Amino acid sequence: MTITAPFATTTAGQSVQGRVALVTGGTRGIGAAISRSLAGAGATVAAAYAGNARRASDFLDECRTEFGTENERVTAHQSDVSSADECRRLVADVVERHGRIDILVNNAGITIDRTVARMTDDDWQQVLDVNLSGPFYLAQAALGRMVEQGSGRIVMISSVIGETGNIGQANYAATKSGLFGLTKTLAREAAFQLAKSGHQDPYGPGITVNAVTPGFIATDMLEHIPAKVLDRIVGQVPLGRLGRPEEVARLVRFLTDDASAYITGQVWGVNGGLDM
Ligand SMILES: NC(=O)c1ccc[n+]([C@@H]2O[C@H](COP(=O)([O-])OP(=O)(O)OC[C@H]3O[C@@H](n4cnc5c(N)ncnc54)[C@H](OP(=O)(O)O)[C@@H]3O)[C@@H](O)[C@H]2O)c1
Repeated sequence: MTITAPFATTTAGQSVQGRVALVTGGTRGIGAAISRSLAGAGATVAAAYAGNARRASDFLDECRTEFGTENERVTAHQSDVSSADECRRLVADVVERHGRIDILVNNAGITIDRTVARMTDDDWQQVLDVNLSGPFYLAQAALGRMVEQGSGRIVMISSVIGETGNIGQANYAATKSGLFGLTKTLAREAAFQLAKSGHQDPYGPGITVNAVTPGFIATDMLEHIPAKVLDRIVGQVPLGRLGRPEEVARLVRFLTDDASAYITGQVWGVNGGLDM
C-alpha cells in the first residue's frame, strides 16, 4: 500500500461541463434552481416534472432565453416517480435523448400533512412512493450506467425534517430520514461496484452519493403553511429568514462537480442554522 497520491491536477477546478444531469421536479422550486445552476455550469439537463406541463413549458422558454437554443441544453420530461416502471422509463429516455446519464438529482417530493392519529393509509403510502421509492428506483436504474461509464453523481434532496421530525409530518419525515440510509448504502455499493468493474480511476471523479437537507425554502411547498406558523418558523432560524432555492442549488452544484470526488455518503445541511 502506497500513501503517496498524485498532485490533484486531474480534478482540481473541473466542473460539470459536458455532463448529463437528470433533475426530478426540475422545472419549479428548488429543482428549477438546480437545473439552472447545472445548465449554467455547462451540463445538459433533463428536467423532469409530474403534471404541471404549463410550468414546464414556461421553464423551457426561460432556459432558451438564458442559455440559447443551440444544443438543447435543457429538456423537459414528464414522469410520475411514484411508479417504478416510470422511473426506469425516465432514465432510459434521458439516455436515449442525451446519450448518457452522469448526474441524478432526486429532488421531486410531496407533503400530505396530518397527525398520526388522522393519517390514512393512502396519505402514508403516496408520500412514501414519491419521496422514497422514486429515488430508489431512479438510483437503481442510473447506477448501472454510471458504473459502466466509470463515473457518476447522485444527490438526494432530503429535508431538515428528516433529522428533527415534525408534528403532522410522520410520512414526510420518515421518507426524508429514509433517504439517509439509502444514500449511505448506495454510496458504499457504488464504490464497491465501481472498484469491481475495472472502470475505476482511483483519482478520477468516481461515483459519489450524498444527501442535502434544506431547511425552510421559499417555494410553492410552503404555500399551504399559515402565515402565523411561517412567522414562528422563521423566528427559530438563527439567520432570521427563509432560504432561497438558489442557496440549495449552490451546494448541489458543488457536490456534482467532478472535483468533489472524495465526498460521499454524507448529509449536508442548508438551513440557516436551524438544526444547531
Ligand atoms: N421548500 C422547502 O422548504 C423544502 C425544505 C426541505 C426539503 N424540501 C424538499 O425539496 C424538494 C423540492 O421541494 P420544492 O419546495 O421545490 O417543491 P415544489 O415547489 O412543491 O415542487 C415539487 C416538484 O416535485 C415534482 N413532483 C411532485 N410529485 C411528483 C411525482 N409523483 N413525480 C414526479 N415529480 C413530482 C413537481 O412536479 P410538477 O411541477 O409537475 O407538479 C414539482 O416539480 C422536495 O423533495 C422537498 O421535500 C423542500
